[in-house]
Amino acid sequence: MKKKRKIVVANWKMAPNTIDEAKKIFSGIRKSANLTKNTDIVVCPSHVHLSVLGNLKIKKPIYLGSQDIFQEENGLFTGQVNFKMVSDAGADFAIVGHSERRSSGDTEEIVNQKLKTVLKSGMKAILCIGEDVRDTEAKYLSFIKNQLESAFNGVLKKYLDNVVIAYEPVWAIGKKDTDAMGPDELHQMSIFIKKVLSDIYKKSNTRDVPVLYGGSVTDRNARDLVQEGEVDGLLVGRASLNVSVFKDLILAVDK
Ligand code: PGA
Repeated sequence: MKKKRKIVVANWKMAPNTIDEAKKIFSGIRKSANLTKNTDIVVCPSHVHLSVLGNLKIKKPIYLGSQDIFQEENGLFTGQVNFKMVSDAGADFAIVGHSERRSSGDTEEIVNQKLKTVLKSGMKAILCIGEDVRDTEAKYLSFIKNQLESAFNGVLKKYLDNVVIAYEPVWAIGKKDTDAMGPDELHQMSIFIKKVLSDIYKKSNTRDVPVLYGGSVTDRNARDLVQEGEVDGLLVGRASLNVSVFKDLILAVDK
């Protein structure tokens, strides 16, 4: 059987501050990506840097992604960016529902609209889900179930091939790598997420939808999270801006 390719998403958030730095980090990542055999790398810079990087020659296994898009295609929306702009700039992927967008106002309904917009555009969507806190009565499980059910509400089965799910528990984002989720707990969550998805789509081709983990991933915990957590890859914030750490990280995932 063909080995499923791993995916590592680099979410640069609001960094770096200059185009020169963005180009430098990108070219470092490109060199590292050429050393991998089985891993796709999706770099998601700011929108300003997306168009600059999109002008460089982007080849497999590197892809560009947008950190967000606006749900409407046309209209008077100061400060917003639509899917046509990011796609024209070179993005093949768009992140939808990152917790930092949700906390700036993206409701479940907006996340659902954004997911549909990205998928209809032909781009691939990286849908982020994740609970804010863990409670002892396992309420976080119904929270995750609700997030998945609302995000996929009305999304046709045929689009599933273009969906990647990134499970990012909010309590584990932006911390030390020792505060990331443990691989055992992650394994349980990846099984749970696949089960919910298969229930939503009545068992059709949901098994192939990649599930990634995000939240304080570094070169030190990447391998265990992927191997023991049994996920298809990682969504990496801060560590994706450090070329040498990110190189070790993707090589650890690629093993
Ligand atoms: P982090 O960010 O890797 O810096 O914790 C992850 C994310 O927010 O996507």
